[in-house]
Amino acid sequence: MTKPIPVILDGDPGHDDAIAWVLAKASPQLKILAVTSVCGNQTIEKTTYNTRRIMALIGLDVPVAKGDPRPLIAEPIIAPVVHGQSGLDGPPLPEPKTELSPLSAVELMAQTIADSEEPVTLIPTGPLTNVAKLLLAHPDLKPKIARISLMGGGVRMGNWTPAAEFNILVDPHAARLVFRSGIPITMAGLDVTEKALVCPEDFGRIRAVGNPVAVTVADWLEFFYQFHKTMDYPGAPIHDAVAVAALVKPEILTAREMYVDVEVSGDYCMGCTVGDWYGTSGHAPNATVLLDIRREAFVDLLVEAVKTYGEVE
Ligand code: BDR
Ligand code: CA
Repeated sequence: MTKPIPVILDGDPGHDDAIAWVLAKASPQLKILAVTSVCGNQTIEKTTYNTRRIMALIGLDVPVAKGDPRPLIAEPIIAPVVHGQSGLDGPPLPEPKTELSPLSAVELMAQTIADSEEPVTLIPTGPLTNVAKLLLAHPDLKPKIARISLMGGGVRMGNWTPAAEFNILVDPHAARLVFRSGIPITMAGLDVTEKALVCPEDFGRIRAVGNPVAVTVADWLEFFYQFHKTMDYPGAPIHDAVAVAALVKPEILTAREMYVDVEVSGDYCMGCTVGDWYGTSGHAPNATVLLDIRREAFVDLLVEAVKTYGEVE
């Protein structure tokens, strides 16, 4: 077996962030070095508390640090309509076990990357505030970042506005810095993540695995689906888990290389990820833009992931 990829999880959990982390922890292809929180789905206090509760649930004991209370320039936007008042409403969760690092999210990322023998892959599943601040404060570490496999954007659609996806809209200036960084990017945007549906008929397969993680994931799916049902989705789009699937099961995804930049102004297109589909901009591609996923294989991947937390007779 090849050496696991060293990764840092950076997110704003959030039901789909949580499921992404369940998958990451279950995947022998990854070695999780640290976890950092960012404000997005809820305030930084809430996303940090949720981060540590998820870590307790899945038995992940690595350094964890808290991000800043606001994006680089834009005003914070939160999403209680999708994730509830706690940012992770639904089943009860264990209280945190891992102490918060005295370092900020950015400094924990920097120290982890500097200390790693091998280049580190970042998996941001929230706004890109921490990643952008890292690149601004520690440009010398760029060669030690192998890849950024992110959930954000969409070259053909938005979800929070007609043009913009939530994570990019919350901190468009950070996103622009990241896309212009020169670091290889895998973009799990809405083009693919809206197809990463876990449907009500799949929930039972996950619940039937029976261990506490599987039951919690099934409850999260039920909660997350309630919102999406009102918008006529046939299932719950587990956006953030696609950024992990891209690293552990790339064969279930299809992609196109293209140049992507982020709109940071405008009446209608703030936060839009503009993808140069036909190469007319003259820029070389800077992102592997994921476009499609084999949905059933994605569900299988999640079922196998929850099984690693213990089979129940
Ligand atoms: C993204 O927004 C958040 O609500 C989800 O956690 C996901 O990262 C989807 O647009
Ligand atoms: Ca998220």
